[in-house]
Amino acid sequence: MKNVVVTGGAGYIGSHTVISLIENGYNPIIVDDYSNSSPKVIERLEKITNYKLTSYKINCCNKNDLEEVFKNNDIFGVIHFAGYKAVGESVAKPLMYYQNNLISLLNVVEVMHKHNCNNLIFSSSATVYGDPKSVPIYEDFPLHVTNPYGRTKLMIEEILQDYVKANPNFKVALLRYFNPIGAHESGLIGEDPNGIPNNLMPYITQVCIGKLPYLRVFGNDYNTPDGTGVRDYIHVCDLAKGHTLTLKKMEETNENLLIYNLGTGKGSSVFEVLHEMEKAVGHAIPYQIVSRRPGDIAECYANCDKAYKELGFKTEYNLFDMCKSSWNFQQKNPDGIK
Ligand SMILES: NC(=O)c1ccc[n+]([C@@H]2O[C@H](COP(=O)([O-])OP(=O)(O)OC[C@H]3O[C@@H](n4cnc5c(N)ncnc54)[C@H](O)[C@@H]3O)[C@@H](O)[C@H]2O)c1
Repeated sequence: MKNVVVTGGAGYIGSHTVISLIENGYNPIIVDDYSNSSPKVIERLEKITNYKLTSYKINCCNKNDLEEVFKNNDIFGVIHFAGYKAVGESVAKPLMYYQNNLISLLNVVEVMHKHNCNNLIFSSSATVYGDPKSVPIYEDFPLHVTNPYGRTKLMIEEILQDYVKANPNFKVALLRYFNPIGAHESGLIGEDPNGIPNNLMPYITQVCIGKLPYLRVFGNDYNTPDGTGVRDYIHVCDLAKGHTLTLKKMEETNENLLIYNLGTGKGSSVFEVLHEMEKAVGHAIPYQIVSRRPGDIAECYANCDKAYKELGFKTEYNLFDMCKSSWNFQQKNPDGIK
């Protein structure tokens, strides 16, 4: 059984990926400092999978600690989710973002190099495309970022491309996620933000449960069918599967740089999400139109043909499934994962 280190494995996408890894015969080793997650996630993952997990409470910015993981285990590959991800916070605290996101990546690569571990999957983001010239977005579109969070993703993509040129035995996959929502069917794990959510889905579910008074819709005058922003929402379990498919591809291919969009290829507006959510909860959801958020773009959705052709990546869940599972998680965890 191949050991795969999952940094940020207690977080939202990481935890769902741990399940997919186990289902596909990999042994995940979780590394997380729980700065944006709870150690309870590990117990819950064990309950879902009926599998004894190895986990380390480590900050990836501490190279010596990280090295212990590689000394203790023979590691086939790393999926590097660990990092901060809030755009607004990155504008207010850029150094914190550069420190955490860049130093942890550099440490991961250095330690991998030292221990002859040659397969790395990096969590990149659709944010690297900035405001795209057209939609759907293809992997070869020009890259342009507008905030420090996005800049960490783009810088890391560039660092890793330099690194593979210098180290042809090292394989890197850059996975550009669109908008993950939804939760595992058990309702035991899901998106569990600290404080007031930045993202649409946890914001809506908190309105539904009565924690927030109404949904703020940032602008209804975009050049989109109903005037609200359009994004490519993907069920987190479909996104998780994309990682195991990528690992399998890395086992077979001689290519050492793989880049894929992971989305559904379909754009949905804020109103469409709201209406699907109303169906899932069975009642109307209060909302107010407020002004646009600076930096938000009208439309962003992926072309995912490359991931389909090269990985066999196909999404299974529709928007209603995503809404229903998010709501199930919120109902079962009104105060998050405590
Ligand atoms: N959620 C999204 O919408 C989205 C979209 C595109 C890309 N991404 C990227 O995917 C990755 C995972 O996102 P997520 O939504 O699961 O976020 P998350 O915050 O739920 O998970 C990240 C995990 O990493 C941990 N972590 C952070 N810094 C760490 C460090 N230095 N050492 C060890 N652990 C650390 C946190 O405690 C958390 O458990 C991030 O890199 C994020 O930027 C997320």
